[in-house]
Amino acid sequence: MTVIGTPLSPSATKVMLLGSGELGKEVLIALQRLGVETIAVDRYPNAPGHQVAHHARTIPMSDPEQLKALIEAERPDIVVPEIEAIATSVLESLEATGLLRVIPTARAARLTMDREGIRRLAAETLGLPTSPYRFCDSLDELRAAIDGGIGYPCVVKPVMSSSGKGQSKIDGPGDVQPAWDYAMAGGRVSRGRVIVEGFIDFDYEITLLTVRALGAGGQAETHFCEPIGHAQIAGDYVESWQPHPMHPAALEKAQHIARAVTDDLGGQGIFGVEFFVKGEEVWFSEVSPRPHDTGMVTMITQWQNEFELHARAILGLPVSTALKSPGASAVIYGGVDAPGVVFEGVSEALRIPQTELRLFGKPESYAKRRMGVALAYDDDVDRARELAGQAAQRVKARA
Ligand SMILES: Nc1ncnc2c1ncn2[C@@H]1O[C@H](COP(=O)(O)OP(=O)(O)OP(=O)(O)O)[C@@H](O)[C@H]1O
Ligand SMILES: [Mg+2]
Repeated sequence: MTVIGTPLSPSATKVMLLGSGELGKEVLIALQRLGVETIAVDRYPNAPGHQVAHHARTIPMSDPEQLKALIEAERPDIVVPEIEAIATSVLESLEATGLLRVIPTARAARLTMDREGIRRLAAETLGLPTSPYRFCDSLDELRAAIDGGIGYPCVVKPVMSSSGKGQSKIDGPGDVQPAWDYAMAGGRVSRGRVIVEGFIDFDYEITLLTVRALGAGGQAETHFCEPIGHAQIAGDYVESWQPHPMHPAALEKAQHIARAVTDDLGGQGIFGVEFFVKGEEVWFSEVSPRPHDTGMVTMITQWQNEFELHARAILGLPVSTALKSPGASAVIYGGVDAPGVVFEGVSEALRIPQTELRLFGKPESYAKRRMGVALAYDDDVDRARELAGQAAQRVKARA
């Protein structure tokens, strides 16, 4: 079973995080608490996770040579991808040597690196319900896909993007060209490939945090957190709450789908599985094989938050997904473009009862950059949403 060594000694259990933003920072803190030696990697210096790890490294993780050289120099026992834009071929070849583990698996990191791998796996290989979709490499192909069956309204997204970047809704023919141009400007790599999806007129959407952790006999077991509801603006999460009430049949379908996807991806760790729900009908949207931004609410709602669950699961330790209290999270945006900002209103925010704050410590603020999150608990989820929203409103960054 799991043994944990002493950090900064030859016996250390070493974990490398590839991506050290606000989610990676919390995973690092959870690992630190378990006596793990941590190496935080990001593409820019002084990233949130750099500030709480034993070692901070700055490289472009999409560069295969630099990534390989860094992993070989640091010799971690476990590599934990925290972002999508990683040279996953390097992870696959290093995993194959058996010298390290990749979380949850190098194949999962590759398949979820862009929208195509995971969508084809879910819809075509596993036969799970998703929105209708096509992949397109040009404006003409996009027009043909819409006219050929996807129809209006629909949603266009670069295959390589997250947090809604480059994503837009198309309501009619006049929106197609602007949506294509916007996708080309917002994608992570300018390969020019997009997915166009039929618009699902859902009642609500949820993230179902799903954990694969080892049971007493050493076999992987699946655990589900309570469903997390969330509100998105322009494809980016602004508010989340837990639990989100669901029709039992819809919850059962969502858990069944989440199990199918995560069983296929395999390995150990937490997954954020996203669904659209209408009545008893459920559509799989996407999955991240790592903590999910909407799951930050679990820092106030669960005995073991999503970051602790991830840390425990990857180390082979037991987990509990039990709810502590209903609660909510509300994003604090930068509001200004400036480095080294100052946050005002912090004490006013925390004067609101039943709230907590996280300020991520990002070296530079942008108007729409997520700089922190407000959390609140209450027996009544709607009340928790109000409290978290009020607390977030009171915190203001200034140059
Ligand atoms: N086919 C669709 N029908 C209706 N709404 C959609 C559809 N696809 C996306 N959306 C809306 O846009 C949001 C973001 O989409 P998606 O999760 O695919 O993008 P993302 O960039 O990966 O976002 P994130 O990284 O924040 O999860 C969804 O949560 C949903 O609110
Ligand atoms: Mg999403």
